[in-house]
Amino acid sequence: MWYRIKQFLKYVYYSKSIYRIHSPFVYDLVAHVLESKEISKGLLDIFKYRTELSTSNREILFDGFGADKEQKKHTLSHIEKHISLPHKKGLWYAKIIEKYKYQNIVELGTCIGLGSLYLSNVLENKLYTFEANQACIEESNTLFKRFNKSNIEIISGNIDNTSIEFVSKQAKIDMLVMDANHTYEATINYFNTFLPALHENSLVVIDDIYWSEDMTKAWNELRNHPKVSLSLDFYRCGFLFFQHNRLEKEHFKVWVND
Ligand SMILES: C[S@@+](CC[C@H](N)C(=O)[O-])C[C@H]1O[C@@H](n2cnc3c(N)ncnc32)[C@H](O)[C@@H]1O
Repeated sequence: MWYRIKQFLKYVYYSKSIYRIHSPFVYDLVAHVLESKEISKGLLDIFKYRTELSTSNREILFDGFGADKEQKKHTLSHIEKHISLPHKKGLWYAKIIEKYKYQNIVELGTCIGLGSLYLSNVLENKLYTFEANQACIEESNTLFKRFNKSNIEIISGNIDNTSIEFVSKQAKIDMLVMDANHTYEATINYFNTFLPALHENSLVVIDDIYWSEDMTKAWNELRNHPKVSLSLDFYRCGFLFFQHNRLEKEHFKVWVND
């Protein structure tokens, strides 16, 4: 906990507003996408569903995938507040997908499917979401039916086993959201496994980069990867871009007024 507080204070001190970052691409992304206040009806419906969940005491069993190895039951209310993607971040991802016309999206870690709703908001797109926990898969399937989602495919099983075959069959991935096992090894492995399917205009989102020292170590290593040309640190997550038109590698800690 102390680690996260310390890192947050550093982020507040060192991050720059877009007016101090001289990059038209970053300015456009932050000012016109992340800070935009427009919300479509589909995204409002997700918010309404979240308020329903926030009082639910129904429990889901987590069978120890991820950094927390213990089997545990969590109420839907706890999952909505503490495990699933927060609403604001969901809005970011949905708006980014719309703006950059990303079509093939991959989410590592479905949980109960809340993040998947934002990532599949554009119905013409395809979302592949990876999850090992059976109770989460069942809950997500029910949710996707309720929201009439025909553009989501759940890849069930441990990502360590399912990802290699998936990548060998997948020609390209436009956006990859890593939100499964929050350990150094898993984060580096996910990146290396999915790298062959990424292209010049892909975006990789790494969630919770200050969740632990290990996650920050993985983030720092990945942002320095030779294929990464631009990295953006938003504290709550990090973005990696691979654009070839950049003369030199750039890294920014960016403040967002959302
Ligand atoms: C933080 S939650 C994901 C939240 C979700 N992306 C959302 O926005 O609502 C992490 C999920 O990853 C799953 N997970 C962790 N390690 C995994 C692995 N190796 N294979 C498959 N799923 C895994 C966990 O079971 C858990 O449901």
